[in-house]
Amino acid sequence: MSPRLPRYGPAARFYDLLSAERWVYRAGRLRAIALLRLSAGDRVLDLGCGTGLNLPPVMAAVGLSGAVLGVDASGAMLDGARRRIARHGWTGVRLIEADAATVDLGDEAPFDALLVTYALSIMDGWTVAFDRAVARLSPGGRIAVVDLALPTGWGRLGWPLARFACWTGGADPYRAPWRRIDTVADDVRHERLRSGHVRVVVGTVATPAMPRPAPTTPEQNGGR
Ligand SMILES: C[S@@+](CC[C@H](N)C(=O)[O-])C[C@H]1O[C@@H](n2cnc3c(N)ncnc32)[C@H](O)[C@@H]1O
Repeated sequence: MSPRLPRYGPAARFYDLLSAERWVYRAGRLRAIALLRLSAGDRVLDLGCGTGLNLPPVMAAVGLSGAVLGVDASGAMLDGARRRIARHGWTGVRLIEADAATVDLGDEAPFDALLVTYALSIMDGWTVAFDRAVARLSPGGRIAVVDLALPTGWGRLGWPLARFACWTGGADPYRAPWRRIDTVADDVRHERLRSGHVRVVVGTVATPAMPRPAPTTPEQNGGR
């Protein structure tokens, strides 16, 4: 298990409460899901889905005929997602407990959209995880990455808080994983929320991207 994942173990029960979701992070996921332009019946892959905070807006967009596959390495975080699914009675959501860098998505693909919120800056092997997921999109599939950076401008005053948030979540605020969308998608739109602390990047893949060769250096593998 990754040294980062214990953060998403026993403490997972309190994740929704303690993650500043309401004041800071919900805005990013809502914006990304709006920019994905989901339609009824769409199939969505939510990588590093955690407790399923993306599910309410995604399910509202794809409807009962749509489907979501959530992948997460933490069983405790997925327990939160399971409780949410049970509460809403959604039948179109499936969860897989697995490492996103190695999970076999072959039987589940293709997807119309890939959504990764606040997870790539945490994942070991994130470039591999991202590329493998992108390769499972249908032509014209949409990608949205939401992740963290240190705020800019006046927001720099909030650096201690932002650093604390990244540290508690195990996120690397310098990784900028959204830049990878530029390498696989057209029509890429970058947005900054909360003084740049929250980055939302959305694009469209013209053709299914092929998985890249496995990284051979720590730098190619997201610095790990
Ligand atoms: C900060 S949480 C974000 C959860 C959710 N996407 C959200 O927006 O609330 C990061 C999630 O990434 C998951 N994660 C970290 N490394 C992973 C990996 N290698 N494979 C799958 N999930 C991973 C953690 O278990 C955790 O649930």
